[in-house]
Amino acid sequence: MAEVRVTNRDGSGLALDAAEGRPLMEALRDAPTGVEGTCGGECACGTCHVYIDAPWAAKLPPRSEDEQMMLEAIGELVEVRPTSRLSCQIRMNPELAGIAVEIGPVP
Ligand code: FES
Repeated sequence: MAEVRVTNRDGSGLALDAAEGRPLMEALRDAPTGVEGTCGGECACGTCHVYIDAPWAAKLPPRSEDEQMMLEAIGELVEVRPTSRLSCQIRMNPELAGIAVEIGPVP
């Protein structure tokens, strides 16, 4: 398990454990964060949008083409930042233990 530090949309914070080898979205969805993960991690809904704290964002692999396209699509309705990611596309690993994320707005 890897700890994830979460800032919710209302500014409250919580820490949760995410299973290594699994998408970050699943841990967020299963906790009281408001993340829905409607498409089940298929990069097709944008409901798992998060802002990654900048130092951590730099440690992640770049967005895939599909992720980029979905972020551009939701960016027409909500604020998408350079640190925006779809949490279903972030596979947890030991190097991400302690990652800090803010739950992003969704369309
Ligand atoms: S869960 Fe649908 S895009 Fe991530």
